[in-house]
Amino acid sequence: MQSEGGGAGHGARHAAIIMDGNGRWAKRNRLPRAMGHYRGVEAVRRTVRAAGALGLECLTLYAFSSENWKRPEEEISDLMGLMRKFIASDLPEFIANGVRLKIIGDYTVLEPDIVAMLDDALARTANGQRTVAVALNYGSQQEIARAAAKAAQAGEITPESISAHLDTADLPPLDLLIRTSGEVRLSNFLLWQAAYAEMWFTDVLWPDFMPAHLEEALNSFAGRERRFGGR
Ligand code: FPP
Repeated sequence: MQSEGGGAGHGARHAAIIMDGNGRWAKRNRLPRAMGHYRGVEAVRRTVRAAGALGLECLTLYAFSSENWKRPEEEISDLMGLMRKFIASDLPEFIANGVRLKIIGDYTVLEPDIVAMLDDALARTANGQRTVAVALNYGSQQEIARAAAKAAQAGEITPESISAHLDTADLPPLDLLIRTSGEVRLSNFLLWQAAYAEMWFTDVLWPDFMPAHLEEALNSFAGRERRFGGR
């Protein structure tokens, strides 16, 4: 299929992933839950690399939702620890590969050292040609409410003005939304942005997600006819 906006043959510019199933992966492998998240970070690393190799302009990852604060303190602390390690270990690769880090959601309420690490990473990757957006303390309904309030303040509530105030305003339109682990729901992720996105669901648990799965999802996207409400 001929690509229109995208530089790659599949035609997609922006894919997003609800990375689900770390806990079930750990259980299935008789390992502690934290190990599922650890292996989840390895899947993040190879998927970021694959997204570049497959020509995506933007990859958005749901790493921590505004609802994830309801999880046990120990699990939250494990996830934040992994976040620290990931930034420290992978920032040089982001810079070397021209990857711009972006955060969606209100990350400023995270622990101060993580906020400082993220601010530093944002500044040092600002000139990257492709983007990896990480959703942290992100909730789509909250994002839409914030954007609508800003649009109202500016005196115009229209779909365009709301879109212009979303955290994702500077990203390409969302083409493809992927969710792993067999769950078929959006869980307060990119609700507005998904209006015309294609959806791709797989039973694969996130720690088992491979570049070939991303390629399969993009191939499936390339084969779908998008009509945007027309015919
Ligand atoms: C879902 O698995 C996964 C999460 C809630 C967190 C996703 C986080 C990572 C992959 C690691 C951190 C990310 C970065 C960018 C460093 P689950 O625990 O809900 O699994 P379950 O539904 O099987 O219990």
